[in-house]
Amino acid sequence: MSLFERFGFARSAVRVGAVGVQHASRLAEIHASAFARPWSADEFASFLLDPSVRVDGLFTGREPQPIGFVLSRKTLDEAEILSVALARAARGRGDARLLMADHLQALAHAGVLVVHLEVEEGNAPALALYRRLGFIQSGHRPGYYARPDGTRASAISMTLRLGGETSAPAS
Ligand SMILES: CC(C)(COP(=O)(O)OP(=O)(O)OC[C@H]1O[C@@H](n2cnc3c(N)ncnc32)[C@H](O)[C@@H]1OP(=O)(O)O)[C@@H](O)C(=O)NCCC(=O)NCCS
Repeated sequence: MSLFERFGFARSAVRVGAVGVQHASRLAEIHASAFARPWSADEFASFLLDPSVRVDGLFTGREPQPIGFVLSRKTLDEAEILSVALARAARGRGDARLLMADHLQALAHAGVLVVHLEVEEGNAPALALYRRLGFIQSGHRPGYYARPDGTRASAISMTLRLGGETSAPAS
């Protein structure tokens, strides 16, 4: 069973597609809608030109600009998800799972065996998304993130094994 099938999808008006430097401004816009420390279009352009980085976009129908993206960096047989975000209007519809599953499938095809990420402790939608995909907690870093209001938040480190035997994700 493919990872895509393993994560199970019934419907979608959205699709996952390639993104390029022509999408850098849109990616920066989506990122700015999600995170307190936005990455610039130039930073996204650099990522998009980096062969160790993979970026996938979530698109609606034939719309040319993405409504979401996931970006990871591969090192040998491991990868780290550096960012994933959907435009505000696109959140809460379950589409991030499609984007992530497609991305993880591509990483597996590229020889990645283990995927790492970090998420803020209070980010319930992200934690639920990752757990459903089969990520498990591998660490906890108290006070890792600085919030705009000056307070700090803990980071949860999570890991997903793509190779060999894996436990089935929650249904
Ligand atoms: C995180 C993000 C990509 C998730 O995408 P999404 O399309 O909104 O996610 P979904 O609608 O698939 O919801 C994911 C899960 O969170 C749950 N969820 C959604 N909102 C929730 C909330 N406020 N509290 C608890 N759970 C919530 C959903 O029920 C779903 O769980 P389920 O699959 O078990 O039903 C999106 O919310 C986003 O872009 N957030 C801003 C950027 C961000 O935080 N990125 C992650 C950084 S690590």
